[in-house]
Amino acid sequence: MSHFHDWQTQTRARTEQLLARLLPAADSEPALLHQAMRYSTLDGGKRLRPLLVAAAAELGTPCPTALEHAMAAVECIHVYSLIHDDLPAMDNDELRRGKPTCHVQYGEAFALLAGDALQTLAFDLLSRPTTLPAERQIRLLNTLAHASGSYGMAGGQAIDLASVGQSLDADALARMHSRKTGALIDAAVQLGALCCPDLHDSDLANLHTYARKIGLAFQVIDDVLDCEADTATLGKTAGKDSQADKPTYVALMGIAPARQYAEQLLAEALDALTPYTSRADHLLHLAEFSVRRGY
Ligand code: IPE
Ligand code: IPE
Ligand code: MG
Ligand code: MG
Ligand code: MG
Repeated sequence: MSHFHDWQTQTRARTEQLLARLLPAADSEPALLHQAMRYSTLDGGKRLRPLLVAAAAELGTPCPTALEHAMAAVECIHVYSLIHDDLPAMDNDELRRGKPTCHVQYGEAFALLAGDALQTLAFDLLSRPTTLPAERQIRLLNTLAHASGSYGMAGGQAIDLASVGQSLDADALARMHSRKTGALIDAAVQLGALCCPDLHDSDLANLHTYARKIGLAFQVIDDVLDCEADTATLGKTAGKDSQADKPTYVALMGIAPARQYAEQLLAEALDALTPYTSRADHLLHLAEFSVRRGY
């Protein structure tokens, strides 16, 4: 097994442990809500965003507590976005991470609440005491808030829903994808770096370039896999985008050119890592994984 594969396996296991510890206990009141939160968050997913937090923090010397909270917080926001994305009012999906979606299992009202509570848990975690300078901790909070809101993920989701049945041009599609998926991926990388008091604004700027490319490439490949992969491999229903008449990179340019475009974005992302040599190995491999993954 490669060094990267081992690191990925270990960091996923660490993420799982963190989330299991930081989420409300399944038997604490109100138990059904806490069970719904744990059901959707634990035991599933590629954990790309926490892995990106951890990999970015390898460029410096992180505060360990801040790093753990940042890894868990980005995954909480991501899972909240998935729970709401799957609701009947949005993509109306019944399968997620190989299991029935939150609203199928717990009902729509509890799916809404589980998403709401995961979102606020993210900021609860990020605002807990750490050894970081307070000014830096506020930047962590602001970065995640901005990436999740109407200028980031939620805004991208709004554009996605408003674009059903339309054919967007390449620029409009890039803007939509960069917000709905790219913004949180960018925030994950920034959070990892912000956990390190020894990283500077020039590092944050390099990482922003890297992450913007990866974030867009990740959603381009999500569009490709929706067409190419099967439901069992994806753990979510394949073929939903064309069924729902969503504008995607596959609809815009076709599968092979979409893959080529993702490879081009990958090359551009890796360029931004050249100042860091081997310290950026995990970021480099995560970028490759984002584009060459099978699920
Ligand atoms: C799916 O994200 C939704 C998008 C933003 C494209 P992931 O493909 O990262 O989903 P999990 O976390 O592995 O389930
Ligand atoms: C969802 O994009 C992005 C967010 C959840 C913010 P998709 O709707 O394409 O994600 P999947 O394909 O359902 O995972
Ligand atoms: Mg969607
Ligand atoms: Mg969806
Ligand atoms: Mg998709």
